[in-house]
Amino acid sequence: MKINVLTLFPEMFTAVTDSSILGKAGEKGILDFNIINIRDFSKDKHNKADDTPYGGGVGMVMFCQPIFDALRSINAEGKKIMYMSPRGKVLDQAKIEELAQLDEMVILCGHYEGVDQRVLDYWDMEEVSIGDYILTGGELAAMVMIDAVSRFVPDVLGTKESATEESIYSGLLEYDQYTKPREYEGLEVPEVLFNGNHKLIHLWQLRNSLELTKERRPDLWKAYLSKEKKLSKDEKKILDELVGKP
Ligand code: ADE
Repeated sequence: MKINVLTLFPEMFTAVTDSSILGKAGEKGILDFNIINIRDFSKDKHNKADDTPYGGGVGMVMFCQPIFDALRSINAEGKKIMYMSPRGKVLDQAKIEELAQLDEMVILCGHYEGVDQRVLDYWDMEEVSIGDYILTGGELAAMVMIDAVSRFVPDVLGTKESATEESIYSGLLEYDQYTKPREYEGLEVPEVLFNGNHKLIHLWQLRNSLELTKERRPDLWKAYLSKEKKLSKDEKKILDELVGKP
């Protein structure tokens, strides 16, 4: 997938392009990052990219020219262009998986008080939020979206950590995990994880997942209960217990 990002702060993106899983995917060419500095396209003699808002008010607004030219430089006409903004629809997993189907995406990061509305209208941008809080700019939001989308791009994750695994745990919060040592400063790992009985271990993990989901995320719990599931007798017993059936 080609990922074009238009930003006034390109150096921030080394956090995703140069490290860990996404860095490796970039090296292998599975992800192709194109981080564009909007300021490089400014025709202003001081490379300005923002100006005071018409109608007054605080802050600065990013103006059309450098953004239009930057978008034209990557032939963005007709491509999916997203503008990171708290005014947008809040991202969820379904949207992330939908975006992962694209061959290319273009992301505009705003700063200050935002961008001239004509940028969004002319380029038919979709405004995307990562949550109901205000960041100082769209860069961190773009990185969150890129990270979550990339997990679903084929071969970004190894088969072991595959993102798309459809399992009985889908829609549930993940169960508690432990690693070595078995005891740390008197803190123990649950006994069941050492008995080598994979069925018992699975049932413990399932119960843990169900309990966490029920307690912490009533919305996910409700959705899980209404979903068609293929459960074994033992799995169903655990679920019934938590639902409160005899
Ligand atoms: N820019 C500022 N706040 C944002 C948010 N919550 N989501 C996306 N972009 C933003």
